[in-house]
Amino acid sequence: MVAYDVIGDILIVGEDVTNEKCEELLEKKNINVVLRKKGIHHGEFRTQDMEVVCGEKRKETLYKENGVQLKLDVEKCYFSPRLGTERMRIASLVKEGEKVLVLFSGVGPYCIVLAKNTEAVKIVGVEKNKVAHDYAVWNCRKYPYVKLFNEDAKDFSFDEKFDRVLMPLPKSAEDFLDVALKCVKKKGIVHFYDFLHENDIPDVALEKIKSKCKCKVLDVVKCGQYSPGKFRICVDFQVL
Ligand SMILES: C[S@@+](CC[C@H](N)C(=O)[O-])C[C@H]1O[C@@H](n2cnc3c(N)ncnc32)[C@H](O)[C@@H]1O
Repeated sequence: MVAYDVIGDILIVGEDVTNEKCEELLEKKNINVVLRKKGIHHGEFRTQDMEVVCGEKRKETLYKENGVQLKLDVEKCYFSPRLGTERMRIASLVKEGEKVLVLFSGVGPYCIVLAKNTEAVKIVGVEKNKVAHDYAVWNCRKYPYVKLFNEDAKDFSFDEKFDRVLMPLPKSAEDFLDVALKCVKKKGIVHFYDFLHENDIPDVALEKIKSKCKCKVLDVVKCGQYSPGKFRICVDFQVL
């Protein structure tokens, strides 16, 4: 059994998959490109190098999830189809009239899923990767109350505070807690993502958060596996 991801009409396999197997996978319904990963996610923009093995010679596709469409280049931008359930979990928590800040907004999946599935009145995204930001602008173009900024989240400031702040950068979200806390209303909610070993859930994340603010922890959710024994988690907390 070969493990693979499908994003739109692109099928992505691991480094050890042979060209012959890729040719077979190209026969799958609605697949027009097969890419092979070269290494792991790297760098500030959390991107992953990939080579075209067979099919059309492109890395851009159109992906559908939770009633929305996202256009993206799967090599130049971070995107994971495996986080669709987590995006809908957050959407289910957003109440009518909320103003939501998405730090590290990428190609806009959280912004557009929240715009489509909630009654938030303002959604602001901040993304440093210009390529991902430009896709986000296109992806969210039908929602005028989604505002997107191509800048370093460290420099972000805004003239109003938010009911909810999302921090989907598990590798180093703690470096941006000051920004999130500056932007969130008192009693507002922060969704803090982290990668933790099973034994460290949730204490290591709670230490990082509690060193910066007084808060009430609302939930701790496992939302994916990063490597054997290591998970992507989200701590939902209310700022007191
Ligand atoms: C793990 S990805 C998540 C992207 C998107 N939220 C998603 O779920 O597909 C983290 C994103 O943070 C962006 N990023 C990294 N450092 C940043 C910074 N200092 N300021 C703004 N964005 C940053 C990366 O380019 C990347 O798109």
